[in-house]
Amino acid sequence: MKRLIMLSAFTGAMLMTTLAPLGATPKSGSTEKKPFGKTPDGQPIDLYVLTNKNGVEAAITNYGGAVVSLKVPDRNGKFADVVLGYDSLDGYVNDKSYFGAIVGRYGNRIGHAQFSLDGKTYTLAKNNGENSLHGGIKGFNKAVWAAKELPAKNGQSLELTYPSKEGEEGFPGNLHVRVVYTLTDSNELKIEYSATTDKKTVVNLTNHSYFNLAGPGSGDILGHQLVIEADKFTPVDASLIPTGELRDVQGTPLDFRKATAIGARIDQDDEQLKLGHGYDHNFVLRRAAGAPISLAARVVEPNTGRVLEVWTTEPGVQFYTGNFLDGTARGKGGLTYARRSAFCLETQHFPDSPNQPKFPSVVLNPGEKYSTTTTYKFTTEK
Ligand code: BGC
Repeated sequence: MKRLIMLSAFTGAMLMTTLAPLGATPKSGSTEKKPFGKTPDGQPIDLYVLTNKNGVEAAITNYGGAVVSLKVPDRNGKFADVVLGYDSLDGYVNDKSYFGAIVGRYGNRIGHAQFSLDGKTYTLAKNNGENSLHGGIKGFNKAVWAAKELPAKNGQSLELTYPSKEGEEGFPGNLHVRVVYTLTDSNELKIEYSATTDKKTVVNLTNHSYFNLAGPGSGDILGHQLVIEADKFTPVDASLIPTGELRDVQGTPLDFRKATAIGARIDQDDEQLKLGHGYDHNFVLRRAAGAPISLAARVVEPNTGRVLEVWTTEPGVQFYTGNFLDGTARGKGGLTYARRSAFCLETQHFPDSPNQPKFPSVVLNPGEKYSTTTTYKFTTEK
């Protein structure tokens, strides 16, 4: 009897789905897991394709936690992939540009690859001249993360965890790192980072997605209009280490308080632009008083109407205009990525903070929890 009822309920449901007029059933999101290849030492890697109810799609691999593709609509509803990356795992294994990756243990540079905590000096791997960049030679972007799909109320979530060992790339303490990516039904890619340690250490996690809101193969990003919510930036020396000064953007080509084309001043005769080979600077975010998360930047691509807003709990954002992209890497669909064909907005604590007592602290103590959130929100405008 029970079986019969279940059966008829099932047939009823089937009938309803078959008979329902096309488009009447609200779409729901989904997460699909696919094999993405094997690392050189034989570890199987997956690709998780998160789709929200609007058809927005974020593909994320547990190799380096990289965002492999991000497909969002333009003002006419036409979808395009707005991030740079590779079609296969090999690309990520050989990558030198950090396409889409989670960056850690320390995002951006630490001067002379060393810092001190409680009188003890820690020497890190040098991988950027004399400096340590983005966690060292084998940063979190080259780590294999454990992945788990999580239930989410308003979208699709993927949890990635990675136990970073004491001494890895020279950093003290066993650091347990957790990153949760959520593709929300409001077309946001939300990234929640957390970490705990068993010994005093430094942490600065970010995501290194390279965006071109016009879509693949559409040239440079110089026509994108940008706002950065910052009155100050941290000027750098010749090795891109902050001098320690917080300088007003007023009167400089780093003033993006009003929407300005990225390319409008990029080749100006300016000391900081020369040192960065374009924009490669940390901006000191003007945080909304009392707000848990604030708008850091807004980018509009005028031809497609795609808009990206970056919201964060972090005090800084590195605006990088892909100055070191040189077209040698073979990207998705066989595309090569030329200089300035994408931009990054890497939310973070300021570069070299472990050596800059006046910068907000990046020290994490045992018993404390590192916890930050960044949201990339996609909309369109006419
Ligand atoms: C840095 C650049 C670097 C790029 C890729 C950015 O975060 O600021 O200087 O070239 O990452 O490594």
